[in-house]
Order: sequence, then C-alpha cells, then structure tokens
Amino acid sequence: MSGETVGVVGAGTMGSGIAQVFAQARFGVVLQDVSSAALERGRRAIERSLAKLVEKGVIDAEASTAALGRIAFTGELSQLAAADLVVEAAVEDLAVKRGLFGALDALVRPGVILASNTSALPIGSLASATTRPALVLGMHFMNPVPLMPLVELVRGARTSPDAMATAAEVCRRLGKTPVESADSPGFIANRLLMPMINEAIFAAMEGIGTPEAIDTVMKLGMNHPMGPLALADLIGLDVCLAIMKALHAGFGDPKYRPCPLLEEMVASGRLGRKSGKGFYEY
Ligand code: CAA
Repeated sequence: MSGETVGVVGAGTMGSGIAQVFAQARFGVVLQDVSSAALERGRRAIERSLAKLVEKGVIDAEASTAALGRIAFTGELSQLAAADLVVEAAVEDLAVKRGLFGALDALVRPGVILASNTSALPIGSLASATTRPALVLGMHFMNPVPLMPLVELVRGARTSPDAMATAAEVCRRLGKTPVESADSPGFIANRLLMPMINEAIFAAMEGIGTPEAIDTVMKLGMNHPMGPLALADLIGLDVCLAIMKALHAGFGDPKYRPCPLLEEMVASGRLGRKSGKGFYEY
C-alpha cells in the first residue's frame, strides 16, 4: 500500500477528526458523507481544530492551510475509488456499516485495506460483508482525534498479520500509538471505560454524589483529565448507551446493563455536548 490517498466515510466528530490527522500527516484525503450539512459541519470542525493547534503553536499557519487543502469533501462514495486505504466512520449501525463495506469492497482496488472506526460492533461481521476479510480490521480512534495518541487496532478472526502490520505503520505515520485488540465486544478501550462511566451514572442516579462531586473524585483522586460524567457528555450519551448495549448483548452478563438514567437521558434528547445538555450545560 502506498498509503498516499485515504478515503474517510462519515464526516461526524470522529470522521472529520480522522480526516484531519491524515491530512496533517500529508496523506491526500477524500472525506465522504451522504449529508451535505454534515460535510459542512465537518469542514468547520476541522478549521476550528487546526486554528486551535496554530494558536497553541503545535503547527504553523502554513501547515494548517496545507492540511485543509489536502482534504476533498464529497457526497459521492464513488470518489473513493482510487483510495489506498479506507477508514469508515459512519453511524454505529451494523446494517448501515455492512452495506457500506459491501459497496466499498466493490469500489476500491483489490489489496486495499478497509478499516472501521467502530467503537463496539464486531469486525468479523463487517468483514463477512466483503470478499476481502483478510484486509478488514478496526482502526478505533479516540475523541478528540487530533489530541489523543491512541489508536486501537482490532484484529478480526480472518484479518491477516500483514494488514495489521500495515495499519500499525499507518498509525505511526499519524504520530499515534497503535495497540492491538482482539475482536471482542467493546475491544479493550470500551470494555474498561464504559462500565466505569455507566457506574458513575448509577452513582449520580442514586444520589451518592452530585455530578460535580463524582467527577471531582476521579479528577483529583485518580488524576483523570476529566471526570466520567463530563467525558460521557463529550463522547455523547447516545454513543455510551449503544456501547453498553453492545457489551450487554455481547457478553450476556447483567453487570453490563445500561443505567436507567442513561436510557432516560438519551430518550429525552439529553445527549451531552452535541445537544447542549447532558450532565452539564454547554
Ligand atoms: N482540536 C484541537 N484542539 C482541541 C480539540 C481538538 N479537536 N479539542 C479540544 N482542544 C483544545 C481545547 O480547546 C483546549 O484549548 P484551550 O486551552 O485554548 O481552551 C485544549 O485542547 C486543552 O483542553 P482543555 O484545557 O479544555 O482540557 P485538557 O487539558 O483536559 O485537555 C482533553 C482536553 C485532551 C480532551 C482532556 O481533557 C482529555 O484527555 N480528556 C479525556 C478524553 C478521553 O478520554 N477520550 C477518549 C474518549 S473514549 C473514545 O473516544 C472512544 C469511544 O469509542 C467512546
């Protein structure tokens, strides 16, 4: 893989962050989304993030302009035909993702790796929607993508060692550290993180402490950069709920049951930062 042109599917928080870090690492990027409004939001998020990095002296203005110039925004999946690598970051819906993987498999050259940024869906199930299961793997970035150094690389049952090695090399070119995980519900990151967030929500629901108290305990007592409830607001409560449901369904163990308060907040549209209100107001 020359790895020079990367197709990114989905221009949401994760997709736009992924497009940005590839562009900063001098890859050409084609960022595709079916929604032109999402593409526009993605472009603005990338502009804001690059401006912040310039303001902080992490990159200079020239590098910021060059990075933005390396990203082509498109509504058409067919524009990804020449990609050397595809990273899918569309909605966390297995049927949608399987449909996309089938379409991408028919579109891109044989030999091209198809990666998914899924946070909890099985890589094996995406691989089986293609004719190239050895080249399907998880590239799970962390939010906010431009700042977080980890990429969880998920090895499906049929993913080849060569594909994993290539993906690891790509992560290093992005300045990220790859860590390998088996294709198990929640992989490593969300297997550990989400039960902690879910437990923090139980603690809030039971009145053990206020959201501020719960977050302060983890920030000052455990040196976490942000408390679990503030982090849940950053990730999106709908995403947290979907991951808890995947853990619960995947392991069949009641210890992963989503907290009723989480269910209630999602049902009432309190999704965290993206909706302006979660455990905190934004
Ligand atoms: N691009 C550029 N700059 C950004 C940015 C972005 N996308 N997002 C935030 N920043 C900036 C902030 O604007 C802020 O700038 P100012 O100082 O000028 O205000 C700067 O980064 C530092 O932020 P803060 O001072 O507000 O806070 P901080 O020092 O704590 O850093 C943080 C912010 C890096 C997000 C830190 O709080 C942190 O590491 N939090 C935990 C994040 C985490 O756990 N992420 C993983 C979530 S799990 C996941 O993503 C996987 C999944 O499947 C759910």
